[in-house]
Amino acid sequence: MSKPNIILTGFMATGKTTVGKLLAARLGYSFVDTDELIAARVGMTVADIFHDKGERIFREMEAELALELADKEGLVISTGGSFMLNPGNAAALGRTGRVFCLVATPEEIMERVSKDTHVRRPLLEVPNPILRVVELLHQRQEGYARFPQMVTSEKIPEEITSALMGIMSARPAVVG
Ligand code: S3P
Repeated sequence: MSKPNIILTGFMATGKTTVGKLLAARLGYSFVDTDELIAARVGMTVADIFHDKGERIFREMEAELALELADKEGLVISTGGSFMLNPGNAAALGRTGRVFCLVATPEEIMERVSKDTHVRRPLLEVPNPILRVVELLHQRQEGYARFPQMVTSEKIPEEITSALMGIMSARPAVVG
């Protein structure tokens, strides 16, 4: 595999899409956002898929996509917040790619979610979203901790991208 994929995981609104696009441009790789690809293929937003078809169907679509993308190379893949918590998805994408987990505090996540008004996040459409963020982060802590962590606090996306580029050149990928 001459151009192993780079996979970004992490909680909602940790900057996966923004950083993923910058990273793809720097590496000369193609960019894929799993939420956007699923939404484009189904012709519905992720929020509408959750509401109309249910979360289980969305998770099945993610699993199919993981197998499909694992057969490709030269991609930066920004994944939905739960995508890589599914062991099958992580095994598939980890086989041909290098994974990084972006990390932010609940306060930063909430701040970004409230600014990101063009994206609806069905899991946070609850009366007390910050509480939900804290609960979900707690539930998912162990899952995210399996991947190398990149703290995003007080860094602009370009700095996070450069930090990831630095790690990759210092420690070239061992995948498979
Ligand atoms: C989800 C995160 C969302 C999207 C869906 C579920 C999650 O993606 O896949 O709403 O379970 O964390 P982002 O992390 O890109 O917001």
